[in-house]
Amino acid sequence: MELFDVLKKDHDQVKVLCRRIQTAGGESGAGKRLFQELTSMLEVHMQAEEHLYYARLEDNKETLKFAIEGYEEHRLAKMLLDELKSKNLNGEHWNIKFKVFSDVVLHHIEEEEDEFFESSRDIFEEDELEELGSIFSEQKQQLLTPASSRTTRRSSIKPRRAVKAKARGRKKSVRARRKAA
Ligand SMILES: [Fe+2]
Ligand SMILES: [Fe+2]
Repeated sequence: MELFDVLKKDHDQVKVLCRRIQTAGGESGAGKRLFQELTSMLEVHMQAEEHLYYARLEDNKETLKFAIEGYEEHRLAKMLLDELKSKNLNGEHWNIKFKVFSDVVLHHIEEEEDEFFESSRDIFEEDELEELGSIFSEQKQQLLTPASSRTTRRSSIKPRRAVKAKARGRKKSVRARRKAA
């Protein structure tokens, strides 16, 4: 599955969780469980997205603005998430803050899907989105796995430079193949 489809799948899950939490309310057991689920998946989503997608947007003059906007919106979402995780809020205040958080996140998702993805498709090489989709899923899985039960295999968490170097290597081989043909 290509990167944008993998990201959209996560987004759909976030939308459902936000709706269900608002219906359940933060004080109910179900609301608390759903909020925990949302927190861990969203934190991992943002981390992997920054690592594999925003890093690429940053490298291109045309798409740099999306990376800056994305980082800013992630920063705001993480700040509100941290406040929601604190135990100092009463139920009513928590629910109102969650509504604000949810509006920020849903707006961000809409922008990513309608603007960022469409405008950045061309910066990727052929097959690269497919490859990044697999790396994203693998990386997300690793980040969701408790450190104690992780394997020692390091290849799954690829530093952004390695991904870029890999992309450069492929670019060369595509060129070489064209030359040979
Ligand atoms: Fe996203
Ligand atoms: Fe995002």
